[in-house]
Amino acid sequence: MTTNIPTGSTIPENLSHEELVSRIRSLKKEMNALILAHYYTLPEIQQVADIVGDSLALARAAEKNDADVIVFAGVYFMAETAKIINPSKLVLMPDEYAGCPLADSCPTDDFRAFRERHPGAVVITYINSSAEIKALSDITCTSSNAEHIVRQIPADRQIIFGPDRNLGAYIAKQTGREMILWQGYCYVHDAFGEGPILDACRQHPGAELIAHPECREEVLRHAAFVGSTQKMLDYTVTSPCRSFIVATEPGIIYEMQKRSPGKTFIPAPKDPDNPRSVCKQMKQNTLDKLYRCMVERKPEIVVGEDLRLAALGSIRRMLEMSPS
Ligand code: 13P
Ligand code: SF4
Repeated sequence: MTTNIPTGSTIPENLSHEELVSRIRSLKKEMNALILAHYYTLPEIQQVADIVGDSLALARAAEKNDADVIVFAGVYFMAETAKIINPSKLVLMPDEYAGCPLADSCPTDDFRAFRERHPGAVVITYINSSAEIKALSDITCTSSNAEHIVRQIPADRQIIFGPDRNLGAYIAKQTGREMILWQGYCYVHDAFGEGPILDACRQHPGAELIAHPECREEVLRHAAFVGSTQKMLDYTVTSPCRSFIVATEPGIIYEMQKRSPGKTFIPAPKDPDNPRSVCKQMKQNTLDKLYRCMVERKPEIVVGEDLRLAALGSIRRMLEMSPS
């Protein structure tokens, strides 16, 4: 395999996969860099990362490390969160245009107006949001800790939850709390539909359906297990079941297969009317872009100090309120 680093670059062209991996590993030592990668990135990225995790694990890893440089292979809000936690570190991203459409579906002014319509409500915001939205929030959460955090809110307080309506509706159902939901969704998870999922369950009668809470309720109601990416992974390791229909971004199957080599993982089928169950943005992190960003020390994530301090409170509260 060769790279697609453009001609004219000071980085040699046509480096083999092995050469790229070896250069990334040397640079990592030279720069005292920590490479963080989400489970939805390509296997070649997961292979060179120091830590591969879900959003919560990666936010925690960004908080506690001795690196001088954090290289974040994920989507923009993840690298931005790492920078908010670590203002003195250089935070790099292989592709700064790898944004999260769910985060982008929540414009700051609209969210401020939404919040103002419910004065006194506690604002809990999914980490898949911009720094500006975090600054307007009381507590950030991820899909791993959302339920745990909502359970800590006094019963007499109203809760605003955004931007993911599917995760919000699922947590509302689990906790019995009424929540005022922002109507955003993740195009990857929202693409799974009940019909194709039930067809897959009929085709694989021995397989368990496992689903991420960003999926719609019509899918979640059929799942044997619902949980964040990390919890789904842990479930497949401990479950006595030998095969699983996996309703989330299929990048996680690489790690599931690694942890349970004898088990079978079937990506949940795409809905022919809405065939978008791969996260294009996560896959924008390629090995050559990862190498380039380390050599060039850019694109660098920059967050203005006022905004950083305003967003930090809700992230800190999340880390304090999460189960250990
Ligand atoms: P988790 O990493 O919390 O499972 O969230 C999934 C996701 O869509 C990340 O963007
Ligand atoms: Fe955003 Fe969905 Fe991609 Fe996660 S999987 S980064 S929520 S678009």
